[in-house]
Amino acid sequence: MLPRLSIVLVALLCVAQSGAAQSAIRALPETRQWYLDAGDSTYVIGVNEQHMLQSLYWGPALPKDALLPAAQSAPGRASFDPSIGTTSLEYPAWGAGLFTEASLKVDSPNGDRTLVLVYDSAKVADDTLEVVLRDKVQPLRVHLYYKPYPEGILARWSRIENVGKQPFIIEQAASAVWNLPAETDYDLSWLTGQWGSEWQFHTEPIADGSRVIESRRGSTGHQANPWFAIGRTSQTTEVSGPVWFGELGWSGSWRMTVESTAQHRVRVTSGWNPFDFSWTLAPGASLDTPKFYAGYTAKGQGEASRILHRFQLAELLPTHPDPKPRPVIYNSWEATEFAVNEAGQMALADRAASLGVERFVVDDGWFGQRLTDKAGLGDWYVNKEKFPHGLKPLIDHVHSLGMDFGLWVEPEMVNPDSDLYRAHPDWAMHFPDRQRSEQRNQLVLNLAKPEVKAYVFNFLDKLVSENDIAFLKWDYNRNWSEPGWPDAPGASSGNQNIAAQKEIYVRYIQNLYDILAKLRAKHPKLEIESCSGGGGRVDLGILRYTDEVWPSDNTDALDRLTLQDGFTHAYTPETMAAWVTDVPNFLNHRVIPLQFRFLVAMQGALGIGGNLNKWTPEEIQLATHLTAFYKSIRTTVQHGKLYRLRRPQTQEATDVEYVAQDGSQAVLFSYLHSQQYGMAQPRVRLQGLNPEAMYRLHPLDPAKYKGDVTISGALLMGDGVSIRLQGDYDSTAIALERVGESH
Ligand code: GLA
Repeated sequence: MLPRLSIVLVALLCVAQSGAAQSAIRALPETRQWYLDAGDSTYVIGVNEQHMLQSLYWGPALPKDALLPAAQSAPGRASFDPSIGTTSLEYPAWGAGLFTEASLKVDSPNGDRTLVLVYDSAKVADDTLEVVLRDKVQPLRVHLYYKPYPEGILARWSRIENVGKQPFIIEQAASAVWNLPAETDYDLSWLTGQWGSEWQFHTEPIADGSRVIESRRGSTGHQANPWFAIGRTSQTTEVSGPVWFGELGWSGSWRMTVESTAQHRVRVTSGWNPFDFSWTLAPGASLDTPKFYAGYTAKGQGEASRILHRFQLAELLPTHPDPKPRPVIYNSWEATEFAVNEAGQMALADRAASLGVERFVVDDGWFGQRLTDKAGLGDWYVNKEKFPHGLKPLIDHVHSLGMDFGLWVEPEMVNPDSDLYRAHPDWAMHFPDRQRSEQRNQLVLNLAKPEVKAYVFNFLDKLVSENDIAFLKWDYNRNWSEPGWPDAPGASSGNQNIAAQKEIYVRYIQNLYDILAKLRAKHPKLEIESCSGGGGRVDLGILRYTDEVWPSDNTDALDRLTLQDGFTHAYTPETMAAWVTDVPNFLNHRVIPLQFRFLVAMQGALGIGGNLNKWTPEEIQLATHLTAFYKSIRTTVQHGKLYRLRRPQTQEATDVEYVAQDGSQAVLFSYLHSQQYGMAQPRVRLQGLNPEAMYRLHPLDPAKYKGDVTISGALLMGDGVSIRLQGDYDSTAIALERVGESH
């Protein structure tokens, strides 16, 4: 895959060159060990005397001559915890008395429901280590894949293969298990939420037992995100100490189990959620699990997120023929909701362009009989009352203003009040004879069905081919309730049919990815946002096909500080769409000054979502000024290194800093949430600068910064700067330009 931007390319080349002398995968046949180097970390696995593959090491990079002893299984504990559960296996299947979390559970044709996986073979191809395990009895193989990336991430996944002549039923299949070093003071950090308050960050000590974070919803979910970070209670902070972290790349139901076994060994297992899941593996067939990406750093939670950001930018996000920073967008959803029409959108486009907006997006309401959320989903033709001449006049107008054009779609949904549903009621997920539960007056189309997949691809392809559309906001506004698929291929009756229907959890998402991949291949310039009532579908699966996400429908700037802090632990700011909207905010009814709202939205991909017809000339002037400021620092924000100097959860104020990958620029954002008289205002000490370089400071508000304008990196980091914020919701920013070496 081509790196996305020149900055990333340069960074990558440096890493690649420094590591060019030695391969990232080293095999040691004599001890049956493999050493995998990813960035500043090493991961080691080996085959033990029982011929089982176990994890040996996960931590700081090991020099080439630092070799571990050969793998040795752990002893069992009395007659109750056999060795199979006490040994840190790489992919423990259920069998031989395994009582800890299993990676794999399979029913064999002869009624055997257990497996015991032993080493078969290994090879390295395409920078990926493949280790093949086989069951001791059944004709079933498991291929484990390991792909190290120079940014510090190791991707792992598995392939389950039926090499026999009869089908197996897979009941549970994880992508991978990560075994942590034997320590007793781990803390787990994870993200939870709900609609309007996604990305809540938690940390708690890991005690014996399991913490399960999951989605049974058919999609990733607002309620938890498939991300984890584990630190040492005694050592790990934002800026230092070890962190083991990872995220699953899957957009359907998923499960992540963080387990501390009876012997106090910590493991993280993740993959498809086994709840209500089944997969029939036909003779000769194989099934690939999603990728589970993980990394290690010795430099704290901040560095863990920077590694994830770098990896996503360089390796994961879609590439473009002509890469550009994320544009400043305008979207009128909060301003007009469904009341979109040609004249109204044209007027807003005029105002948006005058602010410096680069992309104009028409949200919900432009199609079918879509006057409210009660009708129209599924009918993807332009509403003639709202746009009598189709979309072309509006698109032409938007182009004439120098902006490109984006459009909202919700391809996987249908309102019962639609032509599509009247024609194809069987296309919605359902169980026969049971009422179909509506949410927001809509049902979920069964994308696992080939005819639904074809319909969705064809309408999107036609829409993008017939209109000059640069961007789709792809929404998904409910979760599943009756995940039935009565005519699923496979056996036509009885339990076999039920097993086939349960494949919907995986087949649906596979088809979603296929549609996205095909659409992008056919329209290489098209950009896509993943939205699901805000942040309900954000994960490293969908981000392989989408350029950005909508992290939350909550646009209240104070709440956003917390949401964005949680979001950026797992995902790069480049993907984080953020709008400036009107006050009082529709959720919190909070009134926050325009500058604060802008500076919060500038932490990611800036957008504007207010009713510009109502903005005063002063507001328009300030917005124009701030949009220009954003453009001057956005490459640093979108592709730079993020430093959380003061986090919003625990403080009355928040400071966030970004440093360009090449060090040439940095930007500091400071926000005072609410002032208490006499409250101390600490100096803000920057991070990530070159101590030997000089920086020229360009304060956005000169009155709020008192100090020298040219300062060395050493002083900026050691002594800091004094920012003068006053009253509630005061805010400012300083751009720093590297101007040379200090003497
Ligand atoms: C979801 C999205 C919003 C908006 C509406 C339109 O809630 O998150 O941004 O697009 O749908 O119906």
